[in-house]
Amino acid sequence: MPEQVEPMVQEQAPSSGGGLAISVGGLCKDYLLDGRRIAVFRDANLELSAGDSVAVVGRSGSGKSTLLHLLGLLDRPTSGSILYDARPLLDCREDEVEEFRCRQVGFVFQFHHLLPEFTALENVMMPAVIAGESMNWARARASSLLERVGLVDRVAHAPGELSGGEQQRVAIARALVMSPRVVLADEPTGNLDPATGEQVLDLLLGLNDELGTTLVVATHNQHIAERLPRCLRIAEQRIEEVRP
Ligand SMILES: Nc1ncnc2c1ncn2[C@@H]1O[C@H](COP(=O)(O)OP(=O)(O)OP(=O)(O)O)[C@@H](O)[C@H]1O
Ligand SMILES: [Mg+2]
Repeated sequence: MPEQVEPMVQEQAPSSGGGLAISVGGLCKDYLLDGRRIAVFRDANLELSAGDSVAVVGRSGSGKSTLLHLLGLLDRPTSGSILYDARPLLDCREDEVEEFRCRQVGFVFQFHHLLPEFTALENVMMPAVIAGESMNWARARASSLLERVGLVDRVAHAPGELSGGEQQRVAIARALVMSPRVVLADEPTGNLDPATGEQVLDLLLGLNDELGTTLVVATHNQHIAERLPRCLRIAEQRIEEVRP
């Protein structure tokens, strides 16, 4: 891929329908490991409105990452329902699920999972290219997002040539490239110094505010959790409301 950043050809993203409402009912999730059943959720329920901005807290091993994986259709519940704008996507064909995940869900992981052999720009373009968008569109969109996260002069850097905070900002740009309707962020600030962590959270909250994107942030950090208007806690295999 050429390193030269071309001028914007199109600002508008392919999906862009505001936030996504998610309704979880009677959720059970077990992992099976060496014949042992590990129960993570038992009859857990959760209602997320479109545009909600929610922290998920709970002790280590309580199921925060599991919940994010289930909400983002990276994993399936053992039983129970998850509706996306009232749509039972778990019952849909795998290609429809894949299309949905690709276009409507953005993931930010604790460890950014950037591809080391590609530049920042190419990493951000990747989901759009995989989704079949044109290279020109993907490049323009990725450039615009990297500018937005303050990395306009780092587009040609490989992940190894970026600081931790810069890498996480690239990962956020990548999560947003398809203008997802829900952003699921798992400890997005876990590896960052407090000031950079605040900046990363500002970015996610700003998007939630401007675009109405539904935002779910799993975090151990009390201060980060307090900055989100709503807070849920996972305890005893259920999801309970802490705030409001
Ligand atoms: N693939 C797996 N196979 C078996 N058990 C698993 C698997 N993934 C997670 N678990 C178990 O499920 C439970 C919930 O894990 P999860 O990663 O969701 O916790 P968490 O709340 O995100 O923890 P942390 O705060 O440490 O990130 C843990 O007890 C974990 O050991
Ligand atoms: Mg986790």
